[in-house]
Amino acid sequence: MKKRLGVLISGGGSNLQSIIDACENGILAGKAEVAVVISNKSDAYGLERAKKHKIPAVYLDREKSADSMSYFKEVGGQLKKHGVDVVCLAGFLLKVEPGIVDAYRVINIHPALLPKYGGKGMYGHHVHEAVINSGDKESGATVHSVDNEYDHGSIIMQERVRVEPDDTPETLAKRVLEVEHRIYPKAILKVLLEAV
Ligand code: GAR
Repeated sequence: MKKRLGVLISGGGSNLQSIIDACENGILAGKAEVAVVISNKSDAYGLERAKKHKIPAVYLDREKSADSMSYFKEVGGQLKKHGVDVVCLAGFLLKVEPGIVDAYRVINIHPALLPKYGGKGMYGHHVHEAVINSGDKESGATVHSVDNEYDHGSIIMQERVRVEPDDTPETLAKRVLEVEHRIYPKAILKVLLEAV
């Protein structure tokens, strides 16, 4: 039986795409499928990517919920409806409520070598700016378990990249993103193999 992945996004969804591709033709083929994609942004391109692959694409507006708890009740309802086994955060920028973390195996990808450059406000270009400003000679990507603190759970997989002297946040982001696309499907496979 294929494991059913629920992927939560807020933006472009290039990591979502790498997961879909791995499920269709790569290392997750026959082992996993994306059961639903949920976005908190109506214009997230990842929703279009899901639709192109005939995957249910759900936009849930955070503003319509009174608080984070009730928002994530709705998210949980969608995960249940679609029979999700594992939740993958892929550029999802809201903090997931404990109710979801307790009910599901939740994993995340982060564009740095955690525990460095994690925590609230550390996402996207902010991370790469901080790495360059610090003068670090390496960065990378981390897939980790999600617990109730930002970017804190145990590390599942990490891969390093060099920071070049002339890197800008954009060039570094591009190099890290290539690594992300490679390791996220691998890390998901690792999680699925551990779960049997
Ligand atoms: C990725 O670089 C991901 O690691 C990062 O957002 C980007 C989403 O890109 N996530 C975080 O910074 C979480 N703290 P994508 O929408 O193209 O997958």
